[in-house]
Amino acid sequence: MKFTTAALTISSIASFAMAAPKGEHHSDAHFDKRDMVTVTQYVNEDGAVIIPGTQSGSQTTSVHVQTATLAGTSSSSKTTTTLSPSSTSSSSSSGSYSGDLSGSSTGSKFEDGTIACSSFPSGSGVISLDWLGLSGWSSIQDSDGNSITSCEDGSYCSYACQAGMSKTQWPSSQPASGASLGGLVCKNGYLYRTNTDTDYLCEWGEGTATASNSNSNGGIALCRTDYPGSEAMVVPTWLESGSSSEPISVVNEETYYQWEGKQTSAQYYVNNAGVSVEDGCIWGTSGSNVGNWAPLVLGAGSAGGITYLSLIPNPNNEDYSSANFNVKIVATDGSTVSGDCKFENGSFSSDGGCTVSVTSGSAEFQFY
Ligand SMILES: *[C@@H]1O[C@H](CO)[C@@H](O)[C@H](O)[C@H]1NC(C)=O
Repeated sequence: MKFTTAALTISSIASFAMAAPKGEHHSDAHFDKRDMVTVTQYVNEDGAVIIPGTQSGSQTTSVHVQTATLAGTSSSSKTTTTLSPSSTSSSSSSGSYSGDLSGSSTGSKFEDGTIACSSFPSGSGVISLDWLGLSGWSSIQDSDGNSITSCEDGSYCSYACQAGMSKTQWPSSQPASGASLGGLVCKNGYLYRTNTDTDYLCEWGEGTATASNSNSNGGIALCRTDYPGSEAMVVPTWLESGSSSEPISVVNEETYYQWEGKQTSAQYYVNNAGVSVEDGCIWGTSGSNVGNWAPLVLGAGSAGGITYLSLIPNPNNEDYSSANFNVKIVATDGSTVSGDCKFENGSFSSDGGCTVSVTSGSAEFQFY
């Protein structure tokens, strides 16, 4: 598959507009959802939306990527719940988020109706998020998509997968409001899959992106949104400074969750170096610089056999110039990457953020 570098430019990367977490106290956990849903659209030179891989000839060499944002969730379905502060850890431990799987293993099959809703199904890639105060769940929703705090009958209990993996569970039928539901469903006290097309709760991504960190300010917490679901930015990938790289989940947008027929990508909020997972992978507040107020957002998805990787300012926090890290997207040995994308000394290589396309092999987000 040939891609001409010159033809691949980024027309624009629109913002998420606003997210709307409420609350006054940094240490509280806030459960809310973003007012917008992020979708990825591919547009041709004329701005028309196209589906990558379905068009031939010159069209496919002039694809522009837009990480666009569409109004989606209805404000009437929004709810905010404030929990007691969870104990925050100042440690920068990595072990508890790393998960139990390696290579391409998917672990054990999930058995419907055998695990009580009061238990958390850790293992086989599923990791428990203990700092949220939700018994390990990444978020819990009622059938309308409102965030609630207990996994009980009729609720959707969503979970995080280890770095590089994505959850497989969401119902094919979604609320008309535009909110999305994700996770296992609790029925008669037991947990059931919402997507019985797969027996496993986590699946590996395309394997075409990693991230590493050599920044001297400390480890970096990447916080993926729990999507489809509450969009809480709580799913952690911890980049210990100086240690080996971690996988980034590149979702296949053609087969992963589609929002109202539109493709979606994996989105990670990037906290400043030195902010722990427990302090960074939460709903933040204005001025906190963490979670949904972190300086940058990283995007990852693939379509038509091409991986698109992005760095964009967090639309919530345009004050990214004071971020204490740099990051660039670099082709790994033998790989082909089109485009140039970095954030250095407080500026992006192009205004509004940037995207590269990986046409063969893989690329690495290198934090420094
Ligand atoms: C960032 O700062 C370093 C050190 O001063 C400098 O070498 C580098 O060229 C700067 N990068 C940009 C994009 O200005």
